Formats: sequence, structure tokens, C-alpha cells
Amino acid sequence: MKPKVLVTREVFDDVLAYLAGFFEVASNQADLPMDRETLVRNLAGMSGVMTTLVDRVDADLLAVCPTLKAVCNIAVGFNNIDLAACARAGVMVTNTPGVLDDSTADFTWALILATARRVVESDAHLRAGQWQGWYLKQFLGTDVHHATLGILGMGRIGRKVARRAAGFDMTVLYHNARQASAEVERACNATFVSKEALLAQADILCLHVPYTPETHHIIGRPELAMMKPGAILINAARGGVVDDAALVKALAGGPLAGAGLDVFENEPALNPALVALANVVLTPHIASSSAATRHGMAMLAAHNLVAALTTGKPPNLLNPEYRQT
Ligand code: GLV
Repeated sequence: MKPKVLVTREVFDDVLAYLAGFFEVASNQADLPMDRETLVRNLAGMSGVMTTLVDRVDADLLAVCPTLKAVCNIAVGFNNIDLAACARAGVMVTNTPGVLDDSTADFTWALILATARRVVESDAHLRAGQWQGWYLKQFLGTDVHHATLGILGMGRIGRKVARRAAGFDMTVLYHNARQASAEVERACNATFVSKEALLAQADILCLHVPYTPETHHIIGRPELAMMKPGAILINAARGGVVDDAALVKALAGGPLAGAGLDVFENEPALNPALVALANVVLTPHIASSSAATRHGMAMLAAHNLVAALTTGKPPNLLNPEYRQT
């Protein structure tokens, strides 16, 4: 008998077909969000699950899902999963690194340009029938070219964002828990600085850190106060990395000129004050969402699930200390 697996949200048909070659697959092609109770019910008897970043996997869930052996997240981030609890329960956890780096970096640039050059605000102006004609000072924005780009978190995505800055003749500064190699710094044309110097010098600050207890509110009131007057903040990493309430204050009263945000605290709920601000570009956590990349993420998660349950060695294993039972 084939092992049973659950796919918690809609995925591409060929991904399901691939999984069906190995497993009895239950999938949620209706794409209805599952609350905890529904998820637990649907996980009964399952050996594996393909989760999305909105499915929380913790010790309580694992305690009532004893047949589970693998949790394969369709995301590079995995702050929705308690890795240690999974390891203790003998459950392998995987993510989808690599496949989404370029698309996420592209989208970070979309946010940079849209925010600095007020694309969304001016689009709304036109659509509302408010355009009365050209004038010199209309929608004055901030130049991106020759500005200083600050990158907090110089992992795979941060580096891709940095490399794209070359075309804009920018100075690129970065801060990271560990300084990158000289080779990476050369390829990215980026200079390592302290977090304080990064905050003080960046005209545009992009966040590319994972969400962990250490990075919770890594950009809060004190950090925002250290930023340059007129600076722009871009967050396509995770909600919770930024203190959204403090951000609202920094956007309304300075020092920030604008923010481009793809992620939020308490998604999908938004801080209503953010929505009321014109100098903010808001998108619904879609930085990786090109058709090719979302397909690549789902297929990589499926490969991880197949490898986990057939060999015990998934390529993107996050908790190698899991206890094999
Ligand atoms: C998206 O946010 C991801 O972590 O892949």
C-alpha cells in the first residue's frame, strides 16, 4: 500500500501527478484555508505533508499526528514550523531554497522602484480621474540611480538584490551576522558595515533576513530613528522583522520617505494605519510569485517529500538531527 500524503493548499496538476506516482495523495485543490482542527483531521493517517507558510506545525500538532514523518514546506522561510519539535518527533522538515531567489530579488526591485518613483500613488491618481495635466513638481520622487543601497541579510536573495544594483550605479552596503567572503563581496560590489552604519547611510534599505527570535523587530523604533531623513525601507522578507506600528510612525512623522512592503505582522491582517498612508506600496506576500517560480517551489517541495519518504534523505533537510524511528 502506498503511503498517504496531504497537500494543504492548491498546487499545480503536474506536481500532484508526480506525487501520485509514489503516494496516495489527498490535496486541497479547492484551496480552502484549513484551520487547525481541519488540518489535524486531514492529517489523520498521513506519512507526509506539503505545507505552505500559513500552516503552523508545532509540538501540539505533532502530538496528535503520530503517523507524520515528513513536513515539506513550499517556501524558503520556515518560521511556521517548530524544527526542534519536529526533530524530537522524528519528523523531517524541508524548505525550498534557491528556486525563488531571482524572482524574489526582481520583486524587491519592483518595490524599490515603485516606492521611490511613486508608481502606485500616481497610478491611483490617474484612475481616480484626478490628473489635470503636466506640471513640474508633480509626484516628485527619490532617485534610485547613484543612491546608497543598504542590504540587511546577505544570503542568497540579498546577494541577488545587490547584483541588480550595478545597473543603477549604486553604492552597495550590507550587514550580515557574518561577513561574506571577499569573492561574494566582489561579485556584489558590496561593502560590509555595522548595522548602525547601514541604518545611518542607506538611502534605500532592503531586508533579507529570515524571521527568527533574534530578528523579531530587528527594525523597530530605535533603528528607524537612526535612518536617514528621506530613506526608503523595503521588506520582502517576513512580517515581524519590522515593527509595523513603529514603521507607521516613521512614515507619518519621519525620517522615512516611503516603504515598499510585501510582508506584514499578523498577515493577512494589515495595520490599518499603513493602508491609510500614501507613501507606502503594499503587496500581498507575492515576491516569489512568478508562474515559473511558484511551480518550481511546489515541485521542489514534492521532490523533497518523495525523497524523505523513500530514502530518508531529502535534499533540503532542515533538521538533520531528527530521530529516525
Ligand atoms: C516566501 O515567503 C518564502 O519563504 O518562500
